[in-house]
Amino acid sequence: METIFSGIQPSGIPTIGNYIGAMKQFVELQHDADCYFCIVDEHAITVPQDPRKLRQQILSLAALYLAVGIDPEKATIFVQSEVAAHAEAAWIIQCNTSIGELERMTQFKDKSQKAGRTGVNAGLLTYPPLMVGDIILYNSTLVPVGEDQKQHLELTRDFVERFNKRYGQTGQEILVMPEVKIAQHGRIMSLQEPTKKMSKSDANPKGFISMLDEPNVIRKKIKSAVTDSSGEIVYDPEDRPGISNLLEIFASVTSFSIPELEEQYAGKGYGEFKTDLAEAVVALLEPIQARHQELLNSDELHEILDTGADKARFVANKTLQRMKNAVGLGRKPRR
Ligand code: AMP
Ligand code: TRP
Repeated sequence: METIFSGIQPSGIPTIGNYIGAMKQFVELQHDADCYFCIVDEHAITVPQDPRKLRQQILSLAALYLAVGIDPEKATIFVQSEVAAHAEAAWIIQCNTSIGELERMTQFKDKSQKAGRTGVNAGLLTYPPLMVGDIILYNSTLVPVGEDQKQHLELTRDFVERFNKRYGQTGQEILVMPEVKIAQHGRIMSLQEPTKKMSKSDANPKGFISMLDEPNVIRKKIKSAVTDSSGEIVYDPEDRPGISNLLEIFASVTSFSIPELEEQYAGKGYGEFKTDLAEAVVALLEPIQARHQELLNSDELHEILDTGADKARFVANKTLQRMKNAVGLGRKPRR
């Protein structure tokens, strides 16, 4: 049986991109695997966050995990900072990772360019080791993510290989090697700049559909999504990124494939296509939003997160101790 780990940052309200690239896979995978789905709040503070808002977003994301259909009886849902092993493991991992490797990460380059050198905190550079820790602490074999996380997963695999070689006896594995699983539509683009990834932290809210946007807001955003002048509904991400992105969203929120949608809308205009797409997105999100609201007002949410953190701690502490033993930390090895 696979062991699955994945996380989403509570750095804003998740977008439909987070749903398609991450959450949708979580729901599908939970039936046949031992799953850990984390609210990675320690990752979120690598860029400035308002403390009060961050707390709200942590709870809101937890409620969304449940509202999309993650079953707490099947999967462990928890908040990263409530399991101390994450920060401890990250330190050991940082001390076994070179600065050069971290400076090569596209996400670091993008974000640090935006913030400028004085605006960047050290955590933005050492973010991948924290992520490596998340994955290895649960002996994860599979990590479902969107396309943008591929490079971080490659770094994780390199780390596991290096750590096992450096500290393991021959034939003995200290850490489990994870595989990456990229969603079928793993890169949803901005509605306004379809060559840029859709992001919950986009300054222009018209670029993304938040999972908590009201139906009329969703309709407006899709209506004003950038397409092209050809008027044809054809999938061609190179030359027609706008309409291709909308086709990917459409296929992800319904059971139609892209070729089926192309056929269905052959000879029809963008207007009709966008109206139908908007209704499909609303039909998906409305019940999720209602359930999210119910959960936010319940004690159930806190009980689930308490139980989740207990379960996570139990597994994570064992792996952390194995790492400490291997590296030689503490007075003597412990079991
Ligand atoms: P983040 O919001 O950066 O914490 O991302 C959480 C998960 O959502 C990761 O697996 C990302 O790869 C995925 N994700 C974020 N944005 C997108 C997007 N625009 N398209 C597809 N997947 C995404
Ligand atoms: N870095 C991921 C992102 O920004 C979130 C994340 C943190 C994650 N830890 C993880 C994803 C472990 C998968 C596995 O999208």
